[in-house]
Amino acid sequence: MAKASVWCLTTPKGGAGKTTLAVALASEIVRLGQRVTLIDADPNAPLQVWYSKGNLPTNITVVVDHQPDGSTIGDLIEAAKATSDFVIVDTEGTNNARATFAIGNSDLVLVPMQSSPEDLRHALRAVAYTKQISKMGNRHIPAILVRTRAGAISDTIEREIDKSLHDTDVEQCQTRLLEKAAFKALLVYGCILSDLPKFSKIGGVGNAQKNLEDVISGIAAAYQKSRKSNNGVAA
Ligand SMILES: Nc1ncnc2c1ncn2[C@@H]1O[C@H](COP(=O)(O)OP(=O)(O)OP(=O)(O)O)[C@@H](O)[C@H]1O
Ligand SMILES: [Mg+2]
Repeated sequence: MAKASVWCLTTPKGGAGKTTLAVALASEIVRLGQRVTLIDADPNAPLQVWYSKGNLPTNITVVVDHQPDGSTIGDLIEAAKATSDFVIVDTEGTNNARATFAIGNSDLVLVPMQSSPEDLRHALRAVAYTKQISKMGNRHIPAILVRTRAGAISDTIEREIDKSLHDTDVEQCQTRLLEKAAFKALLVYGCILSDLPKFSKIGGVGNAQKNLEDVISGIAAAYQKSRKSNNGVAA
């Protein structure tokens, strides 16, 4: 069996959209028939709450990492890889040892950010940590920015951020995760996107689904680009 891919969602900025993106990605992975384990590495345990509502399909598992010092996360990731196609690690909004170990055990780091200079500053810190951790392990770990809670049309601040990223080597997903009630609702109802109509009357699921598919394609494209430009060696 091929080894599971491990994706870590991280940024030291609180409220950037890590957990929402984690459950949205898991929604799509299980809809496509794959097994996903999410590792909740946040003391607020948002994924545990999501899971405990009992509305998730059986090919999703949530494992809570109870050791905030990071002493168990590597072992939890390793164990999850044995039973899943994908492992998604959701970290808390701070830079700590647990986030560092989570990054070091991942194949891909996703850095969600909303369109604000503050989110950008923290996102770039997450990219820099990932580079340092890559160097330490002599293994390239791609870090990809994913813009979240975006409006349908880019505003001036978004365009400024695009401009400032343009001349850097920072990879970003070319599709933004839009601000949608359907995405917000996933944590509220404890379900995946395609099951949302079973639990709530919130509309726009089809549009959210399309946006999510485009985001995943954008992540895959940015991942390939990052792998190619680093040729599989440490950053
Ligand atoms: N694409 C989206 N559409 C609508 N609401 C969103 C979206 N992404 C995030 N949100 C909302 O933004 C808030 C913060 O999102 P979330 O909890 O995912 O961030 P986080 O980075 O995990 O936060 P923390 O650092 O506290 O763990 C939540 O209220 C969530 O519902
Ligand atoms: Mg969170």
